[in-house]
Order: sequence, then C-alpha cells, then structure tokens
Amino acid sequence: MKALLCTAFGPLEQLTVQEVASPKPGPKQVLIDIKAAALNFPDALMVQGLYQVKPPLPFSPGAEFAGVITEVGAEVKRYKIGDRVIAYGLGGFAEEAVSDAERIMPLPPGMDFDAGAAFVLTYCTSLHGLRDCGRLQAGETLLVLGAAGGVGVAAIEIGKAMGARVIAAASSDAKLALCKQLGADETINYTTENLRDRINELTAKRGVDVVYDPVGGPYTEPAVRGMAWGGRLLVIGFAAGEIPKIAINHLLLKERSLVGVYWGDSVRHNPQQHFNNVKQLLEWFAEGKVKPVISERVPLSGATAAMARLASRQVMGKVVVMPEA
Ligand SMILES: NC(=O)c1ccc[n+]([C@@H]2O[C@H](COP(=O)([O-])OP(=O)(O)OC[C@H]3O[C@@H](n4cnc5c(N)ncnc54)[C@H](OP(=O)(O)O)[C@@H]3O)[C@@H](O)[C@H]2O)c1
Repeated sequence: MKALLCTAFGPLEQLTVQEVASPKPGPKQVLIDIKAAALNFPDALMVQGLYQVKPPLPFSPGAEFAGVITEVGAEVKRYKIGDRVIAYGLGGFAEEAVSDAERIMPLPPGMDFDAGAAFVLTYCTSLHGLRDCGRLQAGETLLVLGAAGGVGVAAIEIGKAMGARVIAAASSDAKLALCKQLGADETINYTTENLRDRINELTAKRGVDVVYDPVGGPYTEPAVRGMAWGGRLLVIGFAAGEIPKIAINHLLLKERSLVGVYWGDSVRHNPQQHFNNVKQLLEWFAEGKVKPVISERVPLSGATAAMARLASRQVMGKVVVMPEA
C-alpha cells in the first residue's frame, strides 16, 4: 500500500509517498481501508518534531480518517469486516491504517467519508473546550480567534448551537465572509483592525465571556484584556508560533481565568464525557447545526503541499486527503 512517510523529523519537504507493507491489526485493533483523512495543524508540527507527541520513526501522519474495515482483531466484538467507520489516532495519510477498536466509531447515517474524516478530532476539541473547560452558557458572548481554521470553524458552529453570541476574528475578509456564512454574529479582521478596540465596540465596553484561542502570538493579550468580569480564555494552541506570556494582574482585576484544553488526553481521563460529547455532536449533525467545511480535496501526493499551505494561513476550513484519488 502507499503511505506518506516521515522517516526523520525535519522540514515538510522531506516527507515522501512510499510503497510499504500493509499493517497487521493486533487483537484489539482493526485494519481500515482509508477513503478520506483530514489535515490538522498538529500534523505539520509533528513531522517537524515540534509537537508534544513524537511518534517512533518512521510513521505516517494523519490523525483523523474514515474508511471501511477490512480485518478485525480476535478480541474485537463490536465491529465487523465491511463496517464504515471514523477513526482518530495516527497513520491516516496512507491507503490503510490500523486503529484501536476503542478509537473508532461507526460513520453516522447521512455523513460521507470526507465529513467523517474531518469530524471527530476537530469538533470534539471545540465542544470539549467550550462546554467542559469554558462552561459557555446560552446568551454569553464568545470570541473565536483563527475562526476560519479547522477548530475555529467548529467553535463558531458549536458556539451558535449552544446559544452564544459569536464574534469571529481572522486575518482576511475572505475568511471572515466564511465565518459569517457559518453563523457568526460579528467579525473582526485582526490584521486591519485593533482587536481590543473592536471587542470594546462590539460589546459596549463590557467585554466577551469566553475566548476560544487556537492562535496565541500577538492576539492573546488583547483578547484577555477584552474579557468581561469572570471571562475564560481557552488555551487551544499556538498556530502563530509564539506562546504568549500574560501578566496575571489582567486576571485578578476581573476574576478572569486562563483554561488549558487538551482534548486527546481528556478522552483518556474522562471517557464518559467524550462519549456524551460525541452523542451531542451527532445530534447537532443530524439537525444540520454542525457540518465540516471541506475547502480542498487532494491526493496522497498532494498532502505535503497542503500541509505547507495550512502552516502558512492559506487554508479555510478543512483539507481532506483522498488516498485512492
Ligand atoms: N488543545 C487541543 O486539544 C487541540 C486539538 C486540536 C488542535 N489544536 C491546536 O489548535 C490550533 C489550530 O489547529 P487547526 O488544525 O484548526 O489549524 P488551522 O486550520 O491551520 O487554523 C489555525 C488558524 O490560526 C491562524 N494563524 C495565525 N497565525 C498563524 C501562523 N503564523 N501560521 C498559521 N496559522 C496562523 C490562521 O487564521 P488567520 O489567518 O485567520 O489568523 C489559521 O486559520 C493548532 O495550534 C493545534 O495544535 C489543539
């Protein structure tokens, strides 16, 4: 089978598509014929050795994918050959991958492989952040930074589904047009407008209740200072490349909090909470309230170039890699 391989941590250009042996599932695993895999920012960090998780070399990146089960481990009872499933883990940028049975779920009715591939990691991160960590309430105001990116789009849709007023912030008018289309109530172009001033303007100086921050860099401090009494800033990631340092007097003055969010580990710590979140997301999907935005479909040979576009702010929504294309 063909797989995009990382044989040494380094620049994206060192990734190559190679012919490798099909992986063998262990007793608690299944083998999946991959139909679609979605790209995420951590993929680009991981192959460069810049992510908190460093898999043993060589490995194929690709943390969320969807496909059909072609082999089942001896101890797996819930799935059978031919089942259409969604998986998260590693190895999605390949024609086949093994996955632990506990990390897969059936592809829901009405969801195609592309949407399935772009669903679990992205949407579960945003729901876990907003509901479990941020305690977002209906009627509160949510500010989403990097709002046209993968987890940002999911945060807009989930924020609206939870009854919040959503302010979307991004770097271009084209990105903000997408955010509006997805239901954002207001927008801020943080490359041409002053973020703090616009927050004040849009909230009549009260500030926002929750900030969803997958970007970091220069945007976090004005967002913290633009939070209302009791505001919560969700630390999702640092796509801007710089981990901001915040003077904690900004927290004391209005009883604000910074809240870390690490969806992957939260699933291990609280599997029931994850189960409840997936159930909620499937209900919203069936009601049309959440739906992955797929902006590009690329073959395996185009995955590296797509990763480079993602890492340089040129992507909106999700890019899906189609191994059989
Ligand atoms: N904590 C968790 O559990 C968890 C789970 C999944 C992902 N994450 C993190 O969330 C972040 C976003 O992931 P994603 O897959 O949604 O990525 P993405 O689709 O690339 O979105 C990130 C957004 O960040 C903004 N950005 C600002 N400066 C940037 C720069 N210098 N380079 C690249 N992007 C920049 C871009 O929007 P503008 O151009 O509009 O600024 C971009 O749309 C990553 O840091 C990732 O590691 C965390």
